[in-house]
Amino acid sequence: MSRAARRLAAVQTPVIPVMAELIGQTPGTLSMGQGMVHWGPPPPVLAALRPAASADGASDDPALHAYGPVAGDPALLEELKRWLVREHGLDLAGASVLVSAGSNMAFNAVVQVLCDPGDELILPVPYYFNHEMAIRLAGGTPVPVQAGLIPDPEQLAAAITPRSRAIVTVSPNNPSGAVIPQGVLEAINRLCADHGLLHICDEAYALFGHGDTPVWSPGSQPGSAAHTITLGSLSKSHGMAGWRVGWALVPEALMPELAKVQDTILICPPRLIQRAAAAALADGSSWCRQRIAALGARRQRVLQALIQPEKPWRVLGPADGAFYALLQLNAPLSSDAAMERLIREHRVALVSGSSFGLSGCCLRLSYGMLDEASLDDALQRLQNGLAQLCAIPGPVG
Ligand SMILES: Cc1ncc(COP(=O)(O)O)c(C=O)c1O
Repeated sequence: MSRAARRLAAVQTPVIPVMAELIGQTPGTLSMGQGMVHWGPPPPVLAALRPAASADGASDDPALHAYGPVAGDPALLEELKRWLVREHGLDLAGASVLVSAGSNMAFNAVVQVLCDPGDELILPVPYYFNHEMAIRLAGGTPVPVQAGLIPDPEQLAAAITPRSRAIVTVSPNNPSGAVIPQGVLEAINRLCADHGLLHICDEAYALFGHGDTPVWSPGSQPGSAAHTITLGSLSKSHGMAGWRVGWALVPEALMPELAKVQDTILICPPRLIQRAAAAALADGSSWCRQRIAALGARRQRVLQALIQPEKPWRVLGPADGAFYALLQLNAPLSSDAAMERLIREHRVALVSGSSFGLSGCCLRLSYGMLDEASLDDALQRLQNGLAQLCAIPGPVG
């Protein structure tokens, strides 16, 4: 009988489809679960597709139908470099850009390149579940470190071994919304430079800063390219999650090896999507920044409803960025059970904290997706649900 390779047994079951199944079984559920925004791409993106899709075929571009360069089309690579410098101040000296089908796929390519069996990547907890999964798929070993929501560089340093290859940070953070201050990221960069490690910075939410701590890119430090990888994406800022386009800025010495992985798996990024991505970037950031700024008001409503010291739950850490907040419940339940009961009994969906490596009873809330009118209703359901879950008597003794 055929069987899956043994390493798959250690890869967690993706939590989002589990949650989606529960929502599907519970009509009327309001979802504060999946990490998406409620808008779609800016108008120039769809306009860029029109010539390619014209009915008469007259302006059809034959290049779109052929395989393209492995790392991405030159027009997009140039637009992307301008964007990375203009919007995030990145230092491109000594760096190369790989466009991929989403930044998840770029992360996958990076860990394929970094990991011999048993090589270690340090993941501050909470981690983004797909990072942990990708490392296991590549045969590497994720090393979760409880270093605080704003990770303490000294605790990360203590986890470094001769097998360590990289430290992964996510700022603004999924699942906590925490924005890691510049000084902390600089310290992690130094640590990586000193130990011959890579600092892999997942910046899927780079434009999503709402609080007082500015979002800062470690790749903007002059000379950082040799030990820094910056991952980015149009999925969140531009409402293009389904288009599957993202990138990695990598030390140029890694590019030939990354090209082997990308050639094997994707051959080239989809060329029509690259054309759309170039139009999105050329449009500038004000269109998305306006929408992201409006999320700030939702964040206030969410935090006002949930930060209540007398309640048996608390919001962990400063939910200053992305569109997430992390809740810890004083309840004798697993995170998975809490997710299931909130959906089945209260028709409101949040994501179980166990998928992010969190122990105890934790849930991730996303305020990016719901329409305005449903937010108060969802928060009311959530408050009632949390109160009931936390009222369950714990084990005696
Ligand atoms: C931290 C982080 N990185 C990457 C991704 C996925 O990005 P993409 O759609 O570009 O693969 C997500 C999606 O939730 C995310 O939260």
